Amino acid sequence: MSDAVSVSDSVSGAHVPTTRKQIVVGVGGGIAAYKSCALIRSFTEAGHHVRVVPTESALQFVGKATFEALSGNPVQTGVFADVPQVPHVRLGQEADLVVIAPATADLMARAASGRADDLLTGTLLTARCPVLFAPAMHTEMWEHPATVANVATLRSYGAIVLEPASGRLTGKDTGAGRLPEPEEIAGLAALLLERRDALPRDLEGKRVVVSAGGTREPLDPVRFLGNRSSGKQGYAIARLAAQRGADVVLVSGYTAGISEPAAVTTVHVRTAQEMQAVIDREAAQCDAVVMAAAVADFRPTTLVGSKIKKGDGEPDSIELTKNPDILAGIVQARRDGAVAPETVIVGFAAETGDEDGDVLTYARAKLARKGCDLLVVNAVGDGKAFEVDHNDGWLLSADGSEVALEHGSKSLLASRVLDAVSGSLK
Ligand code: PMT
Repeated sequence: MSDAVSVSDSVSGAHVPTTRKQIVVGVGGGIAAYKSCALIRSFTEAGHHVRVVPTESALQFVGKATFEALSGNPVQTGVFADVPQVPHVRLGQEADLVVIAPATADLMARAASGRADDLLTGTLLTARCPVLFAPAMHTEMWEHPATVANVATLRSYGAIVLEPASGRLTGKDTGAGRLPEPEEIAGLAALLLERRDALPRDLEGKRVVVSAGGTREPLDPVRFLGNRSSGKQGYAIARLAAQRGADVVLVSGYTAGISEPAAVTTVHVRTAQEMQAVIDREAAQCDAVVMAAAVADFRPTTLVGSKIKKGDGEPDSIELTKNPDILAGIVQARRDGAVAPETVIVGFAAETGDEDGDVLTYARAKLARKGCDLLVVNAVGDGKAFEVDHNDGWLLSADGSEVALEHGSKSLLASRVLDAVSGSLK
């Protein structure tokens, strides 16, 4: 059963209505078990009812008392505690979502083979809600054919097995197998509560280039022309595309300091010209380009090497030069054959209406002018789209179709955009 609650939007501070869900957090026995504490906390702070079910080995890393204090609920590992309540059946049946973090190689092997020898694996067999595994292990274990087969089996049963991050592992080694950050797992879990079919593996074998954030066009060593893009929308698209199986390159301008998505190659750029150079190179070898970045249309014509001083001799105005239109450039490159004809090109439009036309009128004109296949339209102003965690709008297609995108998290909007991309891929 779900109760209505209201939680504070972490960015805008506004109260966003949500519903209280029953979430089971399964914890496997790996060093990353300590990160499950932050995940549990984020679920309880969002108002959800959380039951933590660790394996016996997870308790070697984090004590039962910690999980009980964080969740506010009793914690057990075996099927013989609290027997009259039949917890190995009830927990799974009543859950709205099960999240396993960290999912170790051993735990996934047991789950894939249908074992039910502890409370967590029993719960996995009885759960009919979305089940999200967030793996964490050494690269060799992640790449071993046995683990690869177990991951494929779990996915074939309908479970979502996240791509792990790459980076520092326990000890001195680095590589794929790092647990995605708790904030990222929490965001994907929240998405599954909004839309349980948001993470299909429909982009496997595809290469997707996504731009995000805002460019900054320098005037002198301390000043620039920029905009309010936080990068949240573009990062959500890159994150989801990778978790739907794509090989993703994220070309990131400046953001609000958000962390890089797991399993994504992130290239940082500063200006529109730098972004253009990377996008042009990557677009030549990809299946889809999604331009969610807010690119400055103009840059100061002259970059002054030292700080412009106030007083006599300071300029009365700043001369600007038009920046290249990156999106229109890729469309032209596709016409010219430098980009493959089947590459799907998606633009974004941050629009406001005025006395001459509404948002959609301007967006339709922009779609025609830019020549892309899909245009995601956000109404901006009044605290909408830029910086906040939620978004909505319309998806316009070159074939004339127009679909409203419902209000929800930026991840939800990203999932709708990727459905359209996936449907357009040859
Ligand atoms: O980053 P967030 O805080 O999450 O906010 C998300 C967002 C509002 C920035 C995002 O959803 C969005 O709407 N991005 C596009 C904003 C924008 O610059 O719109 P535009 O109408 O100016 O540009 C239209 C399209 O052309 C965009 O795809 C843009 O990336 C592209 N463009 C623009 C200028 C330029 N010189 N080159 C481009 O390629």
